[in-house]
Amino acid sequence: MTASSGFPDEFLWGAATSAYQIEGSPLADGAGESNWHRFSHTPGRTLNGDTGDVACDHYRRYAEDVELMTWLGLNAYRFSLAWGRILPEGRGPVNRKGLDFYARLIDRLLERGIQPLVTLYHWDLPAALDERGGWLNPEIVDWFADYAGVAFRAFGDRVPMWTTLNEPWVVCDAGYLHGVHAPGHRSLAEAAVAARHLLCAHGAAVRAYGGERTGRIGVVVNLAPKDPATGAPEDLAASVRADAYMNRQYLDPILLGRSPDLLPEMFGDAWTPFRPEDLKLIRQPIDFLGINYYKRGITKFDPSVPIERAIRVPDPRATHTELGWDVFPQGLTDILKWVTQRYGRIPLYVTENGAAFYDPPVADNGTIDDPLRVDYLHRHLHAVIDAIDEGADVRGYFAWSLFDNYEWSHGFSKRFGIVHVDYDTQKRTPKKSARFYADVIRANALTLS
Ligand code: FCB
Repeated sequence: MTASSGFPDEFLWGAATSAYQIEGSPLADGAGESNWHRFSHTPGRTLNGDTGDVACDHYRRYAEDVELMTWLGLNAYRFSLAWGRILPEGRGPVNRKGLDFYARLIDRLLERGIQPLVTLYHWDLPAALDERGGWLNPEIVDWFADYAGVAFRAFGDRVPMWTTLNEPWVVCDAGYLHGVHAPGHRSLAEAAVAARHLLCAHGAAVRAYGGERTGRIGVVVNLAPKDPATGAPEDLAASVRADAYMNRQYLDPILLGRSPDLLPEMFGDAWTPFRPEDLKLIRQPIDFLGINYYKRGITKFDPSVPIERAIRVPDPRATHTELGWDVFPQGLTDILKWVTQRYGRIPLYVTENGAAFYDPPVADNGTIDDPLRVDYLHRHLHAVIDAIDEGADVRGYFAWSLFDNYEWSHGFSKRFGIVHVDYDTQKRTPKKSARFYADVIRANALTLS
C-alpha cells in the first residue's frame, strides 16, 4: 500500500549553497580577498591544500545553474553574498561589478519563479577587516550593518527573504576556539568576544533593514539535540552545557533578550556580562528562523575541551555519514518542536539539511546512484512533516547542497550535493537524490511505500 503525506500550501522547496563554497573566481572583477581565501592558501590549513579558487565555477556558470534549479522544480534558492565582492575593503567604496553579479543572479532566479533567500554572511569575511581584528573588533557591528545596508538598498526590491548570519556558533567554535576554520585562532577569550560581536552585528543588520519592511529577515543557526552518553551525572551535566553553548547561546539573546545562565561559569574569566543596550540591540524583532540540522549530539564529559567540557560520541547503532555524523531524523522533529516550545510559534525554515556519503562514479547511462542520500532526505522530510503535525510552523526546506562543493577545511573530499560536480570538467550530473527531490517537490508530498 502506498500512502502520501503532504506539505503545507506555498511550502518553499529550495536548495542551499554559499559563496565561497561554489563561486570560484574569488578575486574577479575587483573583489577583495576574504579570510577564507587567505586561510585556504595557507599551507596545512585545508585537506590537500584545496582552495575555493575554482570551486564549482558558479560565478561564470550561474545561468546554467539556475536552469538546473528550474529542472529540479525549486521555488526557492538560498545563497550567500560574498561581502568582499561588494565592498572589497569590507567597508568604504562599493564595487559595482560585484553587485552586478548578484543582480544578474537574482534577476535570473526571479525570471524562473525561484525566490531568492539571501544570506549576508556565510563565513567569508573581507581580509581587510580580518586585519583589523575581524569579529574581535567592536567596530564590526557597524561595518556589518553598513554592508547590510548596501545590500538592502541594491536588492531590497527583489529579495523577499534575508538572513543575517549563517551559523554564528560555528564561526566562533571552529574559527576562534578550535582554529579549524578561518581565521584559525585558538582562544577561549576570543570565542567569547566574537560571539558577542556576531550577536550585536545581527541585531544591527536587522535594525538597518528597518521597521517598514518590504520583505522578511531572520537568522540561521545550527542546532542539535544534546543527549547524555550515559546516565552518569557528569555526562548529564555535559549535555546541558553543550545545549547551552550550541543551541541557546545565540537564540536566547536574539529571541528572549537574555543569555543562558550557565555561560558565565562555562567561559570563566573570558566572560563579560552583556550590557543592557547590547541585549536591546540583539533582540530586534525577526520574522523567521532558519535552522540547519545535520546530526544529533550524544555528549560525554571531557574536561580537556574548553567551554563545553564535553565531546560528541557516535551512536554505535546509527548509520553514519562520511563525516562520521549520526543519521538521526527524529532529531530534526525534536529540534523544530523544541524551538517552537521554547521561543513561541515563530515561522521556521529548514535552511540546510543533507549528508556527505561516498558516491559511486557516474554510470555509463549517466546516472549516479546514491541510495543513502535518498534515504536520508526521505527520512528527514518525514521528520519535517511530523514536526508540522505536532505544531511547528515549518514553511520551507532547503537541501544542502545543490551541488557537491568546497567543504571548507575538508576541501573537495566530502560530497553533499544532490547534483554531482566533476571538478575536472565542471559537468553537473543530477544524482538519484536530485530526481527523488524533484518528485517530492512536484507532488508537494512524500510518498510512503
Ligand atoms: C554547515 C555549513 C555549510 C556546509 C554544511 C555541510 O555547517 O553552513 O556551509 O559546510 O555544514
